[in-house]
Amino acid sequence: MKFQTTSYHFDLLKDTDRVSAFFEAIIHYSGKTDLAYDLGCGSGVLSYFLNQKFNEIISIEIDSKAYECAFNNLKSFDNIEVINNDALNYEFTKKADLIVCEMLDTALIDEEEVQVLNHARKFLKDDGEIIPKAIVNIVELVNMQRHYIHWDEDAAYEELSRPVEYSKIIFKDEINPNFEKDINFNVIADGIANGIKITSVTILNDEIVCGPTPMFNPPLLIPIDELNVKCNDLINVKLKYIMGQGIETIETQIL
Ligand SMILES: C[S@@+](CC[C@H](N)C(=O)[O-])C[C@H]1O[C@@H](n2cnc3c(N)ncnc32)[C@H](O)[C@@H]1O
Repeated sequence: MKFQTTSYHFDLLKDTDRVSAFFEAIIHYSGKTDLAYDLGCGSGVLSYFLNQKFNEIISIEIDSKAYECAFNNLKSFDNIEVINNDALNYEFTKKADLIVCEMLDTALIDEEEVQVLNHARKFLKDDGEIIPKAIVNIVELVNMQRHYIHWDEDAAYEELSRPVEYSKIIFKDEINPNFEKDINFNVIADGIANGIKITSVTILNDEIVCGPTPMFNPPLLIPIDELNVKCNDLINVKLKYIMGQGIETIETQIL
């Protein structure tokens, strides 16, 4: 099948690691199959996969151009309803067996995954499932070349500490978007620490773990005040942000 997409959603589709991870998770879903929600359906690719299993799919997309693509891509399927709306404003009426919500970004800071799931979760049956299931965030102390918040495309940086798994967000739980934690880093090399690097790994289900990939949560580099560090030092950094409210909410402080 040929898909109409926006250029952004075309890049998402070309990320075969991302698409195949979601395909596998949906195809191996083994719960009840009355109703699925696809929140932030983009071009509709995940609804297209869901169609093979579910009697009814409600797909919601905020962006009008992406909605038009999804509408056209999925119009031949009677069991899929595509809606152009903000999922936060959508008045859910029916409980679903599965919610697919891929509004992911590194540490869930920039996209509204947390807010949308906090709104939609009441409309998941007690035995229902969410894909993805969880996200795990890992952080390292680094020396980075560019001293502003950016996603790691090809930027050079040197890792100066062991990685620390600092949070795990489970999507079936109610999630507090306000994140704050003091993180201890074990330094592994002498150098100038001037940033931290966050990497997010997505757990789609009990068997499938994915990312980062080029279009799926690339590592996020965040500046901190410059600090000379030596191997075996212990460095404590406070990290604060609001999930779903953007990278402008990120704050760091060396303790
Ligand atoms: C990372 S893309 C994923 C698209 C699609 N699920 C896929 O796999 O190709 C996230 C999508 O969520 C949509 N989105 C973001 N916030 C939304 C909201 N509050 N309500 C509905 N859609 C939203 C974006 O416009 C974008 O199309």
